[in-house]
Amino acid sequence: MRGKGWDISGLDFKNGSSYDHSIKLLITVYAKDYLVNCMLAMFIADNNITTTNRTIRKRVKNVAECDVKYVKNTLRCDRCELVHVQKVLECVVESSVRQRYGVVYTPTIITEYITRKSIGKGTRTVCDPACGTGVFLLSAVKRIHQLSGRRVSDIIENSIFGADILEEHITYTKIVLILYMLYIGEDKQYLNFNLNCCDSLTFDWKNAHPAVSTGFDAVIGNPPYIRIQDMENVQKTALRTRWRTCTNGSYNIYFAFFELGVGILSSTGTLGYVTSNNFFTSFAGKNLRGWMQENRYVRRILDFTHLILFEATSYTCIVFLDRRKKNGIGYNYVTEYNDLVALNSIKFDINPYHKLRYEKWRLLKSDEREIIEKIESTGRPLGMVSDIHSGIATLKDKVFLLPYSDDEYIEKIYAGRVYRIESSITRNIIKIPDLGNKPSQALPTNKIVFPYRKVSKRYEPLPERELKDVYPGCYQYLCANKTVLLKRDGGKQNGRAWYAYGRSQGFDTDGRKLLTPTFSIKPRFHFDDNGNSFFCNGYAICNSDIPLIVIQKILNSNVLAYYITKTSVSVAGGYGCFQKNFIERFGIPDLTDMEIERIEDMTDQDHLEELLAEKYNISALIYQ
Ligand SMILES: C[S@@+](CC[C@H](N)C(=O)[O-])C[C@H]1O[C@@H](n2cnc3c(N)ncnc32)[C@H](O)[C@@H]1O
Repeated sequence: MRGKGWDISGLDFKNGSSYDHSIKLLITVYAKDYLVNCMLAMFIADNNITTTNRTIRKRVKNVAECDVKYVKNTLRCDRCELVHVQKVLECVVESSVRQRYGVVYTPTIITEYITRKSIGKGTRTVCDPACGTGVFLLSAVKRIHQLSGRRVSDIIENSIFGADILEEHITYTKIVLILYMLYIGEDKQYLNFNLNCCDSLTFDWKNAHPAVSTGFDAVIGNPPYIRIQDMENVQKTALRTRWRTCTNGSYNIYFAFFELGVGILSSTGTLGYVTSNNFFTSFAGKNLRGWMQENRYVRRILDFTHLILFEATSYTCIVFLDRRKKNGIGYNYVTEYNDLVALNSIKFDINPYHKLRYEKWRLLKSDEREIIEKIESTGRPLGMVSDIHSGIATLKDKVFLLPYSDDEYIEKIYAGRVYRIESSITRNIIKIPDLGNKPSQALPTNKIVFPYRKVSKRYEPLPERELKDVYPGCYQYLCANKTVLLKRDGGKQNGRAWYAYGRSQGFDTDGRKLLTPTFSIKPRFHFDDNGNSFFCNGYAICNSDIPLIVIQKILNSNVLAYYITKTSVSVAGGYGCFQKNFIERFGIPDLTDMEIERIEDMTDQDHLEELLAEKYNISALIYQ
């Protein structure tokens, strides 16, 4: 729940993490249901509530006063607010269950923003199809109550709809909504909820809620994030058969929740989800992008770039969509935790739909788009001026990479044993990220076990017999790692030898080249003059029709730094991605022979930046 230096948990007390710690301690003392009941008893007592509500009375009936006191002391909670109870409800859900069902809980700052933007005066019905402990639904109740003045119990019974695959989540959502009703001063013996424990993606929503057959006025939430790799086969097949966004690549369950959301949304309703932002550019997200783009559903996206908002395994964004066709997607982003407090004042710049490409969405602010278009229309794209190659991919570098050495045998310690690997079965390799922060002359950083031979221009793994007889030290070492190697690609061998690399790429890259790591804060194109080493963890620029030294200077300039920040995926810490598909459209200016010579000789970076700004017709100040 903690972003870097910023408590975004929505808790109104300072010591959020020590509170979490105390809850964990209490979970070791009490059964989780009893702990929840203690919290309810504490909430009622601290807020002077007397209630006829059956659910609450039944739960607090057998709670011992001494336990409530102990819980209160442990949590150091002077007055128990709803947020304290909610936090306990979140913590009692076991971590294995969370992992399996993609459970993470959304901070209040986000739920409130989404509800404010999705729920208006005319909103009669709201649904969260993956409601967890009810944070979005609670926020919706508050918003409708505030806008309409309707009784909270009436809102809960007639306007709030939700579902979750976990029974305990449904129970907790009910508790949260009841507690809010009591807190506001209302009471009711029984509340009729529209909350279903079900798989929302196979649930018959229309039959379950005939009163909302025309769809919900608002669909909000934080759909589960589960990668195909973590799903069981039946679930994969079910998704593939039913949801068109889940047919290619490593699709994710949240894609289907977008389709579901639109399917249960009224023709004038608004959907607001906080979700992963990797669908803008990922291969798997292509169908989702295509579907959104074809129907022009998305109205706005607020991108949280590389900020970590919750314990999610992915970077996030908020997507607002509705079923009316629009001209473009409003886009803006937040890059600083401090800016999260001012979400409401954020304005959006339109990215016209006709300018978006299914292959990859590049969402930009208007002034940025102008500059990016200038850069890309200058000269020729890098992908035309030169070749861009990817490096060796073993899928287990820890095993294949060895320390650099010129000795006849290279020693490697594995599981407490020293192996002596014949250097004749190794090659030099440059692990590009290890080349340092300043662009430099690239020298080999490691040796790599290379169990291959060349057969008429192609590389083939050595026969196992030959490996064993000719390189016994290496063979023993690989055998010791066999189990680890067999686990690559999720255990699928796809017909390859167990000691072969995970991918057959990066073998033929002899010759002078520039090398860039895949991820870097700033451009770091190093010069490999010798050109006879393999490389990994990055890309090579070679066969350029402009001298490589000139290309190196252009690529290491502020122009590419700016371009990558705006157009590649963001990674924690502000790292840009220099993958082939993010750099190939970068324009390399047309240069006269004199200009080429001038750049070759240039040693002053400022002069170079000025010259390039002129070439790209942009102000050097823009990207400083
Ligand atoms: C990312 S959590 C969000 C929880 C809550 N809405 C929040 O924002 O704090 C996703 C929720 O989806 C639920 N879930 C996972 N798969 C589901 C499915 N197929 N149908 C319904 N709910 C599902 C999980 O139990 C979890 O509560």
